[in-house]
Amino acid sequence: MSRTPIIAGNWKMFKTGSEAAAFVNEVKQAAANVQGVEAVVCAPFTALPALVEAAKGTSVGVGAQNMHWEESGAYTGEISGPMLVDLGVKYVILGHSERRQYFAETDETVNKKTHAAFKYGLTPIVCVGEKLEEREAGSTKEVCRVQTLAALEGLTAEQAAAVVIAYEPIWAIGTGKSSTAEDANEVIGYIRSVAADKFGGETAAKIRIQYGGSVKPANVREFMSASDIDGALVGGASLEPASYIALVEGARA
Ligand code: 13P
Repeated sequence: MSRTPIIAGNWKMFKTGSEAAAFVNEVKQAAANVQGVEAVVCAPFTALPALVEAAKGTSVGVGAQNMHWEESGAYTGEISGPMLVDLGVKYVILGHSERRQYFAETDETVNKKTHAAFKYGLTPIVCVGEKLEEREAGSTKEVCRVQTLAALEGLTAEQAAAVVIAYEPIWAIGTGKSSTAEDANEVIGYIRSVAADKFGGETAAKIRIQYGGSVKPANVREFMSASDIDGALVGGASLEPASYIALVEGARA
């Protein structure tokens, strides 16, 4: 089963609309030259209109970093799926550990948002991963199993096959301390087996599972050469055009 690798930049709370547009103008040519890799940038809501405009006709996909599960309603400060779709956004990161930690995101809300993403035609990038104390307690796989099953609960096999999962061990995010490729591959293989138990092996073999946590141009190839790792979700190293291009090139099959 061949899965198209996907490199997604998660810009977190960085870049204005004009900075986002300038970024795409710098990377679009190089991104177009890399065949066989899906290149995505996930930007703050305010940068999305300019980003979508700049990315039109290029091979760079645009994603948001969160959304509400309802179509509309009295939810001050929230953004819905149809609002993102109306802009031309195609992807949405859901359940990032920073949202779980600082903004009370739970497995239940991640599941609701995953369903909403499919309802409105967005590709969800669902984040799972253990905290340092969970790793030290030996519960990495259990944490990932629970989070993965909760996020995918109630999806059809066809939807599950289209989910992108990002395995991001929390202790590796923004710390410069990445997991080893071997370790990440083992956890990601396990996540795939959890999906296989629920949806069947054929479906699980289609799910793209990224690694995230201190991925850089210098280590991306190592992760990408692992059998079960289908790309990366990258924070800090996705902010500079040259570094982003190197990541996309490094993901080439
Ligand atoms: P860093 O690449 O900065 O470690 O961030 C990873 C991350 O959180 C991507 O979602």
